[in-house]
Amino acid sequence: ETFDATGLHLLPGAIDAHVHFREPGYTHKEDWRTGTAAAAMGGVTTVFEMPNTNPPTGTVEALKLKQKAAEKAYVDYGLYGLLAEDNLDQLEGLIKGGVAAFKCFMGNTFGNLPSPSTGAMLEGFEIIAQHGLRISLHAETASIMALRQKKLMAAGRRDPLAHLASRPAVVATEAVARAAILAEWTGARIHILHISSGDELRPLREAKARGVDITGETCPHYLLFDEHAYTDLGSIIRVNPPVREKHHQDALWEGVKDGTIDMIATDHAPHDPEEKLRDDIWRADCGFPGVETQMPLMLTQVHAGLLSLTDYVRMSSTAPAKAFGLYPAKGAIVPGADADIALVDLNRRETIRAKDLHSRGKITPFEGFETVGAPVHTLVRGRFVMKDRKLVEDASGWGLSVTRIQNMPAPEPRHVDETTAAVTGAAGKGAGRS
Ligand code: DOR
Ligand code: ZN
Ligand code: ZN
Repeated sequence: ETFDATGLHLLPGAIDAHVHFREPGYTHKEDWRTGTAAAAMGGVTTVFEMPNTNPPTGTVEALKLKQKAAEKAYVDYGLYGLLAEDNLDQLEGLIKGGVAAFKCFMGNTFGNLPSPSTGAMLEGFEIIAQHGLRISLHAETASIMALRQKKLMAAGRRDPLAHLASRPAVVATEAVARAAILAEWTGARIHILHISSGDELRPLREAKARGVDITGETCPHYLLFDEHAYTDLGSIIRVNPPVREKHHQDALWEGVKDGTIDMIATDHAPHDPEEKLRDDIWRADCGFPGVETQMPLMLTQVHAGLLSLTDYVRMSSTAPAKAFGLYPAKGAIVPGADADIALVDLNRRETIRAKDLHSRGKITPFEGFETVGAPVHTLVRGRFVMKDRKLVEDASGWGLSVTRIQNMPAPEPRHVDETTAAVTGAAGKGAGRS
């Protein structure tokens, strides 16, 4: 199949290390078809999907349900296994069963999964470290938040800013520092999800300097909003951890520029209006969709000169590919090498409209944002999943688990040298040639 890509830039597809697709359990918010359709429309060719579904992905049995649901995927995916207080005996089974990474909720959020004790975390880190899988942390300290929220509720605070007040930056910072110490002790690889404050950057930098295998992500909402959003958007902007004051936003941009923050991920967290739009902030669900809007929003920052295109590609694709082992670090294979591609028009102007999103969650704080730059075609392992800004409907089911792709035998390179073999996708993602 040939097509005209005149005027478009060829980028490796984005790898979103942080999405919630809600199936099984909460399919009124999202399912694997709608979630991965949104990814395809957003130039995202691989997603890592979170375990706070129902049942949570903390047992081998639950993993099988998740794998069944994921068969509809348009794009490739890694499944997160849950690391919790009570499932240490399941971790080996989850790894054998094909999880790509682990997620540990240190703080309370959607799904109400209790945070494990520091002791259970240490035990879990030890087990997982033996297999080299990365552990992604929702780094917020549950006990600090619980007490603060209780105090605020007793004082009658029901406004959106109370949500921010219940989770000051110390909540995240203490958790990042603690997770880094456990990683250092056990040799586990870790990833700090949704960095929302400047304060977290210090323990992150210090851990990197000590040689801890630690990476960190922030999300478009922390880079593009500050505390004024609470007045404008009410519960729509409620997210864990919260969007913070301007000085944090500025510090996060610094962290992006100096490389402390490794990745852009989205924390794609769709909710339905019933549970999201509430005057009582304590009753409103946290989060909003993001996987479809990440690339246009960030390319807009590139257009505005706040980020180079090279840095954007590193943060949206190369860094997550390396961190989650999607290709051998020393190998000739680079992200996008198995033809996971976003062809983007850097000058394309669009306005974000929630009603046009492919996610089932139609409530976004980015409503009305004018963007410059958008993916026009998305290819996953050489197949169009979005073409001319339209979803390729019958590509549902084309998406594969990254651990399965990694275990596929590498095909013989076809009568070509290494370089050409890499770009024509002779080898699967992560499949080294012998
Ligand atoms: O705002 C959030 N929503 N933060 C999380 O950590 C979880 C997510 C969700 O699953 O809704
Ligand atoms: Zn989280
Ligand atoms: Zn999340």
